[in-house]
Amino acid sequence: MPENTHRVRIRDYPADVRRFANLERLSHAAAAYVLAAMETTLETRDRFSLVLAGGSSPLRLYELFADTYRARMPWAHVHLFWGDDRYVPRGHPDSNQGAAYDAFISQAPIPAEQVHAMPTKIAPPAQAAEVYEETIRRFFGGGPPSFDLVLLGLGADGHTASLFPHLHPERHLEEPDAPWVQAVEAPPGVEPRQRLTLTLPALNHARRALFLVPGASKRDAVHTVLRTPDPTLPAAYVHPQDELAWYVDDAAWGEG
Ligand code: 6PG
Repeated sequence: MPENTHRVRIRDYPADVRRFANLERLSHAAAAYVLAAMETTLETRDRFSLVLAGGSSPLRLYELFADTYRARMPWAHVHLFWGDDRYVPRGHPDSNQGAAYDAFISQAPIPAEQVHAMPTKIAPPAQAAEVYEETIRRFFGGGPPSFDLVLLGLGADGHTASLFPHLHPERHLEEPDAPWVQAVEAPPGVEPRQRLTLTLPALNHARRALFLVPGASKRDAVHTVLRTPDPTLPAAYVHPQDELAWYVDDAAWGEG
């Protein structure tokens, strides 16, 4: 287990937490985690499905994909998906897919047909969610959405992807036929409100999940999810099949 790592239990599910001095070190360690997962997976399989997080936390990691680690990325075998996106066109400044294209996809030698962006041009949003769910079902041949790795951020309110507390996304974990993709609305004041998001059942069928959590604004949410015995925030319900890791910088971890 790398240094500065310790094992916690989140709703009784084991997770490895690694602390880093700052976002730069966190991002390089995250790149190493992604590359190691790709190397292991591609020893026995011919493709790696990576679900990208939205927001600002992963952007430095994405830049590293296209520059520092470009030559090590097995681009021909990588398939990209999104954990959520705002229901805006790719060119909109709030678009998660737009930010990822700007940060690395537009500069990377990844075949266009391997980039599976959320269809935010399809109306209404509920139909866009159905179309993306069908994309995922086809990719996995009708089986469960066992993404090789899901990258996730954490909101100050404990949301992840676009699974906000007021939506009570954990209820899907009790529903045998729960959707894998949903059109949802962020809380008032969180713009853009209309979103598409993977649901907890889809996230939890993944083999691995890696949270990227920098910054003091996340301190309370980090404390609640990682350091209280029975957290109830949406991010606490992410329990992938094989590995769960939380990469947190010192600012988000706080003292003590
Ligand atoms: C989104 C993200 C969301 C994000 C958190 C953290 O579409 O906004 O998917 O879940 O990861 O809100 O956002 P920052 O990384 O910008 O702090």
